[in-house]
Amino acid sequence: MSQSNLIRALPKAELHVHIEGTFEPELMFEIAQRNKVNIPYKSVEEVKAAYDFYNLQSFLDIYYAGANALLFEQDFYDLTWAYFKKCKEDHVVHTEIFFDPQTHTARGVHFETIIQGIVRACDDAQAQLEISSELIMCFLRHLSEEEAFKTLEQALPFQSHIIGVGLDSSELGHPPSKFARVFAQAREAGFLIVAHAGEEGPAEYVWEALDQLHVNRIDHGVRSEEDPELMARLIRDRMPLTVCPLSNLKLRVIDEMESHNIKRLLEKGLCVTVNSDDPAYFGGYMNDNFEAITQALDLNETDLKQLAINSFEASFLPLATKQHWIEHIQRIS
Ligand code: ADE
Ligand code: ZN
Repeated sequence: MSQSNLIRALPKAELHVHIEGTFEPELMFEIAQRNKVNIPYKSVEEVKAAYDFYNLQSFLDIYYAGANALLFEQDFYDLTWAYFKKCKEDHVVHTEIFFDPQTHTARGVHFETIIQGIVRACDDAQAQLEISSELIMCFLRHLSEEEAFKTLEQALPFQSHIIGVGLDSSELGHPPSKFARVFAQAREAGFLIVAHAGEEGPAEYVWEALDQLHVNRIDHGVRSEEDPELMARLIRDRMPLTVCPLSNLKLRVIDEMESHNIKRLLEKGLCVTVNSDDPAYFGGYMNDNFEAITQALDLNETDLKQLAINSFEASFLPLATKQHWIEHIQRIS
């Protein structure tokens, strides 16, 4: 089987995708129009032309502006449903979706509106597309600890729908330690923990995510390679890194895909996974990310299968379900 056919045939779990980052320009226009919200672009082409980023912040400014169109439960449903259709095309059978409530509650949208729209799409995806999903609520790290505590409080009535909490937005200057007390409370309440660390930020932020937030996974973490002691710790604990190749390229974490370290990390025994992060902004969904690294880094069948196996190992699925998918992948020839 060719590499491309194998990529399509592999069942995959996506563990790092921001639902607001799946907002395609066409849907953005449609929803902005029906909600009579002004967005600073005249056409879909103009939106796409604005997607030329030079670092994380230059992307985030545009990403938060786009999210302004989302106001009602149906908007969050439509956004999430459109993403599930992409999952189906790419044979993503399970996804753990980030959402950023503070981006919306700051504009007067109720927490309940956001979660109900997303959950209804998740239920329909299970029933109609046979795709399972979990939700992870992220705190915006450029906002205060107090704001994060308030958001955690708002989430508690909906805890049955939210498996974990995470940390995203502007990394530099906002280390994980800023939120150690919020994450302690979240853990106490029973949430699993993830955090973006080592994307633009230094290896030190990955240490903080491990030792102060007690994460179950690191999101990105590609800069961990700069610290051999950290690498040894990640390998020893088989701590997953949810890596996002096209994102790293678009946000200039790397200069070219050929210099991405995902293959090296895989060969060193880290539990790395492939993910799309903000696919509407970065030029592709799950299989596009697999294709890009396969071509640039000359990945073979064993690498591709291991990446797919890792995605289930690192997921928050029940053990028996993980085993089911892993055995399924091992049988593909
Ligand atoms: N929010 C959406 N995408 C993000 C990323 N790649 N890093 C940090 N915050 C984000
Ligand atoms: Zn991310």
